[in-house]
Parts: sequence; structure tokens; C-alpha cells
Amino acid sequence: MPVSAIYSGRPRRLASRLGALAIAFAVAACGSSPSPTPGATSARSWMDAGKPIDERVAALLAQMTLDEKIGQMTQIEIGGIDPAGVRSALLGSVLSGGDGNPKGPNTAENWYGMVNELQQGALSTRLAIPILYGVDAVHGDGHLMGTTVFPHNIGMGATHDAALVQQACRVTAAEMNATGVRWTFAPMVTVPQDVRWGRTYEGYGETTDLVSQLGAACLKGLQGKKLSDPDTVVADPKAYLGDGGTAFGSSTTQNQGVQYLLDQGVDRLDNATLEKLFLPPYENAVDNGARIVMTSFSSTQDGGKIHGDKHWVSDVLKIQLGFTGFVVSDWAGIDQIDPNDYGASVEQAINAGIDMAMVPYDWGRFESTLKALVNRGDVPRSRIDDAVTRILRVKFEMGLFENPMPPSGRWGQVGSEANRAIARQAVAESAVLLETSPGLLPIARSGTRVLLAGQGADDIGISSGGWTLSWQGQAGNVTPGTTLKAALADELGANLTYSADASFSGGTVGDVGIVVVAERPYAEGVGDSATLQLPPGDVALVAKMRPLVRKIVVVVMSGRPVMLDGIAGRADAIVAAWLPGTEDEGLADLLLGARPFTGTTPYTWPKSPGDAPRIGKTACQGAVYPYGYGLDASGGLLRTAACP
Ligand code: BGC
Ligand code: BGC
Repeated sequence: MPVSAIYSGRPRRLASRLGALAIAFAVAACGSSPSPTPGATSARSWMDAGKPIDERVAALLAQMTLDEKIGQMTQIEIGGIDPAGVRSALLGSVLSGGDGNPKGPNTAENWYGMVNELQQGALSTRLAIPILYGVDAVHGDGHLMGTTVFPHNIGMGATHDAALVQQACRVTAAEMNATGVRWTFAPMVTVPQDVRWGRTYEGYGETTDLVSQLGAACLKGLQGKKLSDPDTVVADPKAYLGDGGTAFGSSTTQNQGVQYLLDQGVDRLDNATLEKLFLPPYENAVDNGARIVMTSFSSTQDGGKIHGDKHWVSDVLKIQLGFTGFVVSDWAGIDQIDPNDYGASVEQAINAGIDMAMVPYDWGRFESTLKALVNRGDVPRSRIDDAVTRILRVKFEMGLFENPMPPSGRWGQVGSEANRAIARQAVAESAVLLETSPGLLPIARSGTRVLLAGQGADDIGISSGGWTLSWQGQAGNVTPGTTLKAALADELGANLTYSADASFSGGTVGDVGIVVVAERPYAEGVGDSATLQLPPGDVALVAKMRPLVRKIVVVVMSGRPVMLDGIAGRADAIVAAWLPGTEDEGLADLLLGARPFTGTTPYTWPKSPGDAPRIGKTACQGAVYPYGYGLDASGGLLRTAACP
């Protein structure tokens, strides 16, 4: 059955479809593969929740055929599978990639229905091992319409507020859990060393300590006290290891017609440097209960792709750090080990210590390749048993065998007022005041005529960036939220005039002009940038606004520090708002003085694109603003002094 046939239906027809599926499974079960010891399976001793988890895992493992074990190690994207496929492939996991939303309306209810149908497919297999469903909920459950979208991690890093990060991730977990999804590919604990990288915004900042602290805070928020507690999800720190250290120009990946520059490239760093810069966030995550780690697409200078690197995946992560959860590969990341030889790639990846493969589509090829490798003795059976033990352990810890699906019907906890209030606070804490002039901020709420320009002032898609509704993100009001324009209009009423392109009708002048200049959404290497330029059309609005107002505040929405040519010198104040998400009232709160500016930049702001690489540089070398820089509304320094 094509997947669309199942998901396009209206929710109320789901029940009857499920009934039909169950019958189909029951019929198919008669012809299923032989079970090793049918008598023992009927005892199902692993279902005894009173037994220690290790015993339950061992009891179940002892019943599994090689096919069933390899199935557990396989993760397929929703676009390539349906419930019958989950059953025949004996899958351990299904994911939604960046574009893997349910067919039909993108609602919590339809997400739940989609996951539930796949789960029923898994439960209809001989051993009824539940699947674990995963998504990239990287700034809230961003692919779900109507969810609370938080600032991307760059903004959360600017808050330097671990308690707030934990709270935001708590909200993310609850909103995900309502959709039936129990695994997020987050937190991203990369430590980006070159802001030209398209994934800079996914990182909390450029210092190992900040990332380590905030990554653990998010993990605790997602996982709660116990993985089997209500409203929790399992976290997945990523991408191990060195993803933020790749050299400019070292990537060989092409995607969507774009040649990547840094993303998926090579770390030209010795092991000691790699370890010092990038390992501590994983160490801290493991100490705080991390159960899943995703490997990075990047390569080391002498070890090749991390996906095939036994030193890093097994010796360091599993043995040195004592990680007892499982390692998942990234999207077709195994294929990159040797692009000309899939068998060799799978062999190397599994032997290196990858436990689950994000295939993402051709499960038949992955499963048959791995099976042949095992039968030839190229991948030891003990390695398979170890991988499956790790995967099952996490599933037992999560309580999936007792509760394969969380309760349904909790749609109201998605995008609630209370959750959005936390995001609004995060937006206010994340924005960084880079420049100001005396008396300008905050803007008086009454009696000030404000002219507002820039598409980003009234566009939730731009404000949210990549990984929102779709992989790359897109401009447009793609999900409910409050734009800066709406928030300011609420406060200023008729004193606010908005024109996206600053075409104010003849004679309109204001006291203060606010211009939003914004990068347009991107994700991963598609967003690698050699120039760090803002769209010229946005920058031109600053000059266009200049003669109409006494003072100009420029709000920069971007996934990283960008070049401020055409802005610095023309603006009286500059606010780095990063990618704030759906609750831009947080920005209005700052501009109008309801909250103080407290954010400081989590990345050095380079003078030129060539100054972007930070490894080996001092704080102010090639920098406009150093790490930790930011002002309060009166222009006082919050943390680190400006560069000379
Ligand atoms: C990204 C991961 C992401 C995965 C699933 C990959 O392309 O590198 O960060 O978790 O896709 O969407
Ligand atoms: C998927 C993403 C994935 C990317 C990798 C996209 O089509 O939606 O999840 O990260 O491909 O290239």
C-alpha cells in the first residue's frame, strides 16, 4: 500500500483503516519467517516490567533471528515506508527527515495518527518490538504546524541561561510527546569555529564550555528525570565529532545544485585539538544521561569519515566516555565512507561502532548487505548483538514495551499560551544590542511615530529560519506566531506605519525608523556562505529610511554574524536578533523597554569573511565584536569589552 493512501485520510477514518491493516498483518503473519524457538517466545519473559532491564534485553535478544536483529539496526524515512513495510523490514526505527510531515493537514493529531499506524505495524511482528520514531525538533517541534518555535540555538546561546534552555527543551519534549514522537535529533552540541558554515545557527556558540553547559541543560529538559516519565523524549546529542571544525573549501558534497563549502568537510586538526574543542559536550551529555548519539558527516585529517572511524566511535565514545546507549549514523552518512563500495562502507561503519543506520530509503539494500557481511564473517555476530542490545536497552528504558504510544488527545499542549510565553522570554533574552546611541532605546510607547520596514518584520518563516515546517525553511507566514510588526502594532497603534520595502506614502516621516534586515532561510551546507552578505535589497532599505526619520534601529535576523556594510555608520542602533522563531513580541519587549537587553554574542563577529575561522585566534583578532559582547539599552557593557 502506498504511504499516501494511508496518511491522506481524515483522522476519523483512521480507526477503520487500522482495523483493515491489522487483518492484513494477521494474514501475512501465517507466512512469516521461521522463529528459532517458538515455545520460548510465547513466555515473553522480557515483557515482565519487574525484571531488571539487562535481563529483559538478554531474554529478548536470545529469541531474535539475524533478520530481526538487523531490522532493529535499520532506520527508514517516512517517505520510504508504510506500516506494512515496517513489518516486512522488521524496522527498529522510522524518522521524519526535514520534509517528512504527514500527508494531509500538518496537525498534532495527524502526526499522532501517522506514528501510531507505523507502531501498530511494528507491534504486529513476531516479537512485537516497538519502533522508536525520530524527528529534528531542534528549536521546538519545528516541523509541526502550530507548535511553539523557539530561537535557534545561536539565540539560546546568546542568553547564556541554562535554566531557560532546559525549560525550552522541556516544552519541546511535551509538544513532541503529544504527537506520539519520542526521539529528537537534538541537542546539536557542535562548537562551530567558522561562521561561514550553514549550520552555525544550530550551535549554541563557539566556546566548548558554553555548548557543554547548554547542551546538557537541553538534554535534561528533553529527557526529564526518567525516560519513561510522561511528556519526555529521548535526546540525541549531535553531530559526533568535529562537525564545527571543518576547513573552508574542504567539502565535496553537492546538494540541490549547491556545492557545499564547509558542511560535511574535513577537520584539518590533530586529535588532541579535536578532543579538546569538541569532546567535552559529549562527555557532559553522557554524564547527564545521553542514550543516543548521532555521528557527523565530517572527516578527520587522517582517519577519513567519522562514520567509519572506530577510534572515535568505539574507543573514545563508548569505552573512554562509558557510553552505553546507541550510536545512529546521519542521513546516508554510511554511504559516504566509500562512495564506490556500499558493502565496504557498511562493513566499516558497523565495525567502527555504528549501531543504527539512518539509511534513509533503501532498507532492502542495507539489510541484505549487512546480512551478507555477517554471514561471511566480515561483521562479527558479537558486534550485531552489541548494537541490538544497546538499541533494545534504550527502548526498555523509555518504557516503549509497556507504552508503545503516549496517550492521544493532548493536542492542546501544542503551541499553548504558556509555552509561547517561554519562547517570548527566550527571544527577549537572546537578542544582542551591538550598537546604540544615547536616549534612543527604549522607544517611548506613546508619542513616538515609528516607521517599520523589511520583509522579516512581518514574516514568521524568515524569523524562524531552516528546520521550520520544511528542511530548508521558507519565507511566508508558514505557522502561527506573532511577527515584530504585529507586536509593535499592538503597542503603538496608529503611531506605527509599516512598509516592507520602505515605500512610505509621500510626506510620511517618523521619529524612529526600524529596519529589519534578514538572511533568507537555509539549512546545512546549502547555507554555507563565502561572503556572509545580507540580501542587498534589505540593506538598501536602511539608506532609503534615513531621510525619513531622526533615528534608525536596524534589527538583523540571521543565522550567524553577517557583514554589516551599508548598515554600520548609517544606523543609530543595531540589534542582532538571530533567528527568533514564532514569538517576536520578545523583540518588541526590548525595543519598547518592557524587558532589558541582556544577551551577548555567542560567536565572535568577524571583520571580514576571511576572519571567520577562529581556531588559533585571540578574542579580538580580525573581530568587530568579540565573543561575549553586548550592550544594555543605555550603551553599558554587559560582559566583554568591545574590540579596539
Ligand atoms: C542532518 C541531521 C539530521 C538528519 C535527519 C541530516 O541531514 O545532518 O542533523 O538529524 O538529517 O533529518
Ligand atoms: C531531508 C533532511 C536531510 C537532508 C540531507 C533532506 O531531504 O529532509 O532531513 O537532512 O535531506 O541531505
